[in-house]
Amino acid sequence: MTTLDTERLTLRMFRQDDLDAYAAMCADADVMRHLGDGKPLSRADAWRQMAMILGHWQLKGHGVWALEERTTGALVGRAGLFEPEGWPGFELIWMLRRESWGRGYATEAARRILRHAFTDLGRQRVISLIRPANAASIRVAERLGERLEGRTELFGAEALVYAVERAVWRLASRASP
Ligand SMILES: CC(C)(COP(=O)(O)OP(=O)(O)OC[C@H]1O[C@@H](n2cnc3c(N)ncnc32)[C@H](O)[C@@H]1OP(=O)(O)O)[C@@H](O)C(=O)NCCC(=O)NCCS
Repeated sequence: MTTLDTERLTLRMFRQDDLDAYAAMCADADVMRHLGDGKPLSRADAWRQMAMILGHWQLKGHGVWALEERTTGALVGRAGLFEPEGWPGFELIWMLRRESWGRGYATEAARRILRHAFTDLGRQRVISLIRPANAASIRVAERLGERLEGRTELFGAEALVYAVERAVWRLASRASP
């Protein structure tokens, strides 16, 4: 499944012409503060990350989408499923460019991806690994119905393990209007 739609976003594969927008997002210290080693990426490393994201799709059959704002065609972020070798679980991830925070785009994309993971992909459990100081991301996880289940270490620093099981998600989606 290479494309998904939500009310305001198209979730699609990354392309070479996303590089300017993706590199700008990855060069922003506010965006990168709680990701990886917490440092902004160079343009070359942003390109390598786009290539890794596409390689993950090729190797695993699922992965991370570019988030395109339908009204403007702008690349506003990325979200998807991430499970590289050695990872602590099947992770749902999200990231938005700074100008697009506060509009509900991360929650909107992640809700659609969670449904895809539990229905189309038949997964039983989805996690999100979040730095304890990343309050905005913790709010997104909680809106999705994820709960704090533990802690782990990621790139030498603590990460919270938020998680939701398919059975719990199904009950919650039946309960919501
Ligand atoms: C984490 C991150 C994606 C959260 O962004 P965000 O804009 O706060 O999250 P959402 O897109 O879900 O937006 C939610 C906010 O938009 C508001 N909003 C506006 N319209 C909305 C709508 N239609 N639906 C839902 N929320 C809406 C909500 O009120 C909410 O605000 P609140 O948090 O003050 O209650 C963003 O901070 C980010 O990209 N950070 C850097 C990368 C990162 O850390 N990623 C996560 C790593 S674990």
